[in-house]
Amino acid sequence: MAMTSLPSLPLLPLLLFAIAANVALGATIVKTLPGFEGELPFTLETGYVSVDDSELFYYFIESQSNPKEDPIMLWYSGGPGCSAFNGLIFEIGPLAFNITDYEGGVPSLQYYPYSWSKSTSILFVDAPVGTGFSYSKTQAGWYTSDTKSAWQTYQFLRKWLIEHPQYLKLQLFIGVDSYSGISGSIVVQNIVEGNEAGVVPRLNLKGYILGCPRIDATINDNSKLIFSHRIGLVSDDIYEAAKKYCNGSYDDVTTSEPKCYEAIKVYDRLIKDINKYDTLEPKCTWASPNQEEDMSRRALEETSSDDFILSPPKIPDMWCHNFNYAMSYWWANDRSVQEALGVRLGIVDNWERCNKSLQYTLDVSSVLDYHKNLSKMGLQVLVYNGDHDLTIPCTGTQKWVKALNLTIVNDWRPWIVDGQIAGYTIKYSESGYRLTYASVLGAGHSPQEYKRRVCYEMFNRFIHYYPI
Ligand SMILES: *[C@@H]1O[C@H](CO)[C@@H](O)[C@H](O)[C@H]1NC(C)=O
Ligand SMILES: *[C@@H]1O[C@H](CO)[C@@H](O)[C@H](O)[C@H]1NC(C)=O
Ligand SMILES: *[C@@H]1O[C@H](CO)[C@@H](O)[C@H](O)[C@H]1NC(C)=O
Ligand SMILES: *[C@@H]1O[C@H](CO)[C@@H](O)[C@H](O)[C@H]1NC(C)=O
Ligand SMILES: *[C@@H]1O[C@H](CO)[C@@H](O)[C@H](O)[C@H]1NC(C)=O
Repeated sequence: MAMTSLPSLPLLPLLLFAIAANVALGATIVKTLPGFEGELPFTLETGYVSVDDSELFYYFIESQSNPKEDPIMLWYSGGPGCSAFNGLIFEIGPLAFNITDYEGGVPSLQYYPYSWSKSTSILFVDAPVGTGFSYSKTQAGWYTSDTKSAWQTYQFLRKWLIEHPQYLKLQLFIGVDSYSGISGSIVVQNIVEGNEAGVVPRLNLKGYILGCPRIDATINDNSKLIFSHRIGLVSDDIYEAAKKYCNGSYDDVTTSEPKCYEAIKVYDRLIKDINKYDTLEPKCTWASPNQEEDMSRRALEETSSDDFILSPPKIPDMWCHNFNYAMSYWWANDRSVQEALGVRLGIVDNWERCNKSLQYTLDVSSVLDYHKNLSKMGLQVLVYNGDHDLTIPCTGTQKWVKALNLTIVNDWRPWIVDGQIAGYTIKYSESGYRLTYASVLGAGHSPQEYKRRVCYEMFNRFIHYYPI
């Protein structure tokens, strides 16, 4: 009532300024989303940040506890080329698709309570350029690489924080998974170097999180045979033959080593029909029109057989993991969804869960040296891996962690969720650098998708500095 008697006009510029201070130019506060009933029970901001010729799209979800003090985490997905929306909807965010009784149209969304945003603000970015809703304004700008995209992601983060200064003082974590283990490690290094060089504002980096990350091509690729033997896909005799004739190198084997070549050929045949993302799940390649392409891009970790397009509303009787993925296409390509998200219409004509035609050069095959350097900094690090993952096997992850030559402070032990062993963990420390490795039992690639609830507990303990 009293409001009406106030002189409203002079207040207007002030009010606008207040809004502008909180919501950066080009940002949208999303209150409702198609498919979700009522208002979103958390704060979602979306928008673009310009870096070089790139317009990088983000989804920011504010911590649901104490956003003024809780940490903030930058998160992006692997591929390269997989949208951060994967992380939001399938892995660590507070929303999930409700596929019960799906009958076509915009899929419905439900609130997902075990979200990492319960304790942490999360800045999901579609990176590198060409991923999700991110795009380039020029032809040349589409070309990117591990080092270039890491640099752009670092610049994105700086710009976003400068536009949202209230988050600058909070503890900052970088979180990536799968292929982005490579560029994510370089982002961390860029931040450290920026801080050392006195670049302002200083970023309050506290640590990083690597989910089934690609770190070293040689270790990773060789670990596949070792892992396959360990979980019983390959007989002792075949494994021994490979070990004897291949001199520890099981990848890119040629006929110049005939006995090794023979052993690897047998191995390849044995695992041909195994689902590499989760060795216990059906492979479902029959649903994919892109098998040829998948095979030719095997070197990339995440170019999976998931991107078949079902014509809605047909959901086959047989359950396949990638049916869930189809939902994301129907949702993100809907005009009402894009309008609600503040997406610039007509630029990304056909949103893809993972862009397989990214103009991307793999210019770094190992970031092990980055972690050797980072292990001299006071950082908190979480590394985790599923034990049913044949794309980035846990054996390889354990191997490169070991190669950092850190001191064990809490040796291999089970970690428990709801009275059940959720995995095994080991903690290392070296002059302020603290690295926790955790395996996730029964989880494929990536664990936070396959064991969402358990990974929520793992993250929660880590971010609160509790032992996992
Ligand atoms: C999911 O959708 C079904 C069918 O429309 C509905 O009955 C159910 O309540 C929904 N679940 C949640 C958690 O929203
Ligand atoms: C086996 O590998 C080691 C180390 O990678 C290398 O030094 C050695 O020459 C290799 N031996 C053969 C027979 O290829
Ligand atoms: C995928 O990336 C390429 C090259 O970066 C780009 O030209 C294309 O538009 C992208 N596709 C989608 C669907 O965004
Ligand atoms: C690691 O640190 C050394 C010494 O400061 C430096 O020469 C090297 O380039 C660094 N390596 C990486 C990958 O950053
Ligand atoms: C590992 O650490 C030990 C003890 O700190 C040291 O003696 C050894 O040389 C290190 N090895 C490597 C490969 O760095």
